[in-house]
Amino acid sequence: MALQASSLPTTTLSLHKEGKLSARAKDSAFWGVSIPDQNKSPFYFAKAKKLSTAFAVKSQTAATTTTTTTGAAPGESKSAAEGKKVLRKGVVIVTGASSGLGLATAKALAETGRWHVVMACRDFLKAETAARAAGMARGSYTVVHLDLASLDSIRQFVDSFRRMGMPLDVLVCNAAIYRPTARQPTFTADGYEMSVGVNHLGHFLLARLLLEDLNKSDYPSRRLIILGSITGNTNTLAGNVPPKAGLGDLRGLAAGLSGQGASVGSAMIDGGQFDGAKAYKDSKVCNMLTMQEFHRRYHEETGITFASLYPGCIATTGLFREHIPLFRLLFPPFQKFVTKGFVSEEESGKRLAQVVSDPSLTKSGVYWSWNKDSASFENQLSKEASDPEKARKVWELSEKLVGLA
Ligand SMILES: NC(=O)c1ccc[n+]([C@@H]2O[C@H](COP(=O)([O-])OP(=O)(O)OC[C@H]3O[C@@H](n4cnc5c(N)ncnc54)[C@H](OP(=O)(O)O)[C@@H]3O)[C@@H](O)[C@H]2O)c1
Repeated sequence: MALQASSLPTTTLSLHKEGKLSARAKDSAFWGVSIPDQNKSPFYFAKAKKLSTAFAVKSQTAATTTTTTTGAAPGESKSAAEGKKVLRKGVVIVTGASSGLGLATAKALAETGRWHVVMACRDFLKAETAARAAGMARGSYTVVHLDLASLDSIRQFVDSFRRMGMPLDVLVCNAAIYRPTARQPTFTADGYEMSVGVNHLGHFLLARLLLEDLNKSDYPSRRLIILGSITGNTNTLAGNVPPKAGLGDLRGLAAGLSGQGASVGSAMIDGGQFDGAKAYKDSKVCNMLTMQEFHRRYHEETGITFASLYPGCIATTGLFREHIPLFRLLFPPFQKFVTKGFVSEEESGKRLAQVVSDPSLTKSGVYWSWNKDSASFENQLSKEASDPEKARKVWELSEKLVGLA
């Protein structure tokens, strides 16, 4: 692709070449980009006059009119010189695409042949292995390192992505961690409580930086999607399972989520005692508030669609990896046979892929959910998760914490 091999760290290249994909590398300084064989790649960087940011697909002229659940009509531009249609794949960044929902979504989109998926992951080798194991075709994806627990890594990712020369049509903020059994907070590289730091603050910075790129795209429908959750919505049964989400007066966020005690602030957004499960739920409230604040600030001006969603209870994913073994054993059958809220990873991937690409899901400011027949509908957020004043305050405080204000 556009990134030259010479600009990659030697370690990345040699590991990749040797195909030692079972190794795990979690060093945040370790980043990489998979480099598909140029000759086999379906892409070319068009120098056509009309396609300033072109990322065109030569072989897809026949696919213009077909749409599927997961694959919408691709971007389409006209070359003035030749007067014929030049089509290109949509380019979507999916954070946390190395497992669970992110991987299933990446696969669903790549399989349509109409999307190139940039898998933004903290563990390059895990992501590459997962993509291959899922059967994703070489050239349908690019793995780029992103550690959302480091503001430097996020800025580096944006830099790397821009140097690749691809347009950006859709950004999916999907990655998350959930630490329900943690007794003590852990912290990001910048000193913020980990769940809110990764799930909210990291994505907040990423989305703010990449808004410019989305705005430049010539794709017909540009979207910014931030994963929400039923657990952050106290207007639901699941959202009422203790500990409930609650941002309070945001005093902990204002003090920097440092967890250094009363004088310098708590690790929790509301300033309360650390609770790992609540920290996750609070981060999801921030995700849903952020999506709406993006909508209020930028939808009219840019035409970008901002959306959030609850994909269903995907009880088998790595999200529950830190839960006690008995919970991990019983949770999937409980969801399947008791609540009947269970959704497979494959089905959830199709749902998120719909929000990425379905021509009927272009409404902005919406929190999507699916009924038992897997039909999408606009869901209601809780009072707190739809409070515009709180959204504005979370936005402004977050700007300070990520160095944008
Ligand atoms: N599972 C559910 O029932 C459910 C329900 C509602 C909403 N959701 C939402 O769906 C999304 C995906 O969750 P999932 O269930 O698919 O969980 P998952 O399988 O654990 O996937 C989470 C992804 O986030 C990545 N990640 C974690 N920390 C990161 C960091 N610091 N930097 C970059 N990436 C990081 C993980 O990377 P590694 O592979 O390296 O660990 C993984 O790829 C989350 O936003 C979650 O809140 C899930």
